[in-house]
Amino acid sequence: MKIAFFDAKTYDRPSFEKYGSDYGVKFKFFETRLNEDTVELARGYDGVCAFVNDTINAEVIDHLCDMGIKILALRCAGFNNVDIKHACGKLHIFRVPAYSPYAVAEHAIALLLTSIRRIHKAYIRSRDFNFSLSGLTGFDLHGKTVGVVGTGKIGRVFIDICRGFGMNVLAFDKYPAPDLDNGDTIRYTALDELFAKSDIISLHCPLTDETHHMIDEAAIEKCKKGVVIINTSRGALVDAQALLEGIKSRKVGAACLDVYEEESDLFFEDNSGHILEDDILARLISMPNVIVTSHQAFLTEEALENIAETTVKNIVEFTESGHCQNELCYNK
Ligand code: NAI
Repeated sequence: MKIAFFDAKTYDRPSFEKYGSDYGVKFKFFETRLNEDTVELARGYDGVCAFVNDTINAEVIDHLCDMGIKILALRCAGFNNVDIKHACGKLHIFRVPAYSPYAVAEHAIALLLTSIRRIHKAYIRSRDFNFSLSGLTGFDLHGKTVGVVGTGKIGRVFIDICRGFGMNVLAFDKYPAPDLDNGDTIRYTALDELFAKSDIISLHCPLTDETHHMIDEAAIEKCKKGVVIINTSRGALVDAQALLEGIKSRKVGAACLDVYEEESDLFFEDNSGHILEDDILARLISMPNVIVTSHQAFLTEEALENIAETTVKNIVEFTESGHCQNELCYNK
């Protein structure tokens, strides 16, 4: 079985080669992203493996089908980059629903601590033998209220860590988990109350039509002055222009972003020798109270192993049985 693997990075290869050889799946690694211009590279392969910033729109889906390709294995959890309606009934698409909620939740906490304890500033200063503490005052997490939007796998791990710090949790989820709310330190609430009462807000829900720009000008207006916003989920949950205005007006105290709405043209690549065309991102990065990482929350050894293992098993399960438990929609 031969699979065309798009948007390949050096860190993908060892685990995919290992599990591929264990299960008889051979990967051809293409560095280019999957899109309308590159889809032809998949000709002659039995399937395609894609990641978060590959474009799996109607044109790409139809082209894959025309080449006789029937399976597309996403090596990620989110699938907002897939035209699901168009794909169903044509292409079998699998995903990796969970690989390490700890990786993402711990990265969200790493961003939060870095930001509020000014570690990013202190690191640069001490490398320059500047041992001044001026401007490095942070605040305790203990006793603060954190608003968690989305209490699925990652949100729950994030809540556990926050409770370890002695924080109170206000949670919002479209489908609340009955066992989570203890009526005291962890409480489900309406989104507006979460916005109004949280010192820190962390997003852990999927990107859908409903959640698109969940953090916009109106939401920021409802927040406490100095609120810290963490987004390790999907960029378009936050209206970046509104966030920038919130930071400029001092309403937003800090932002920790592992994802960005327009990341697909930039993230995962070295753009250090280029002029950044995106003025909003450039301005955000220039802010002393904004930390941006390039969609790296998933990037731990454990997560990479789990991603490769589940992706390969998805392909093998479908090939052997015609079904896959992690399929996004079933062909009729
Ligand atoms: P999950 O499916 O376990 O949890 C998502 C939760 O969001 C569920 O409880 C669901 O009920 C809730 N939800 C759905 N619609 C909602 C809405 N309209 N409002 C509020 N809550 C809503 O997913 P998991 O594994 O916790 O992942 C969460 C998100 O994290 C993914 O959708 C993905 O976008 C992002 N992610 C980011 C990574 C990174 O490297 N930065 C890596 C992996 C996931």
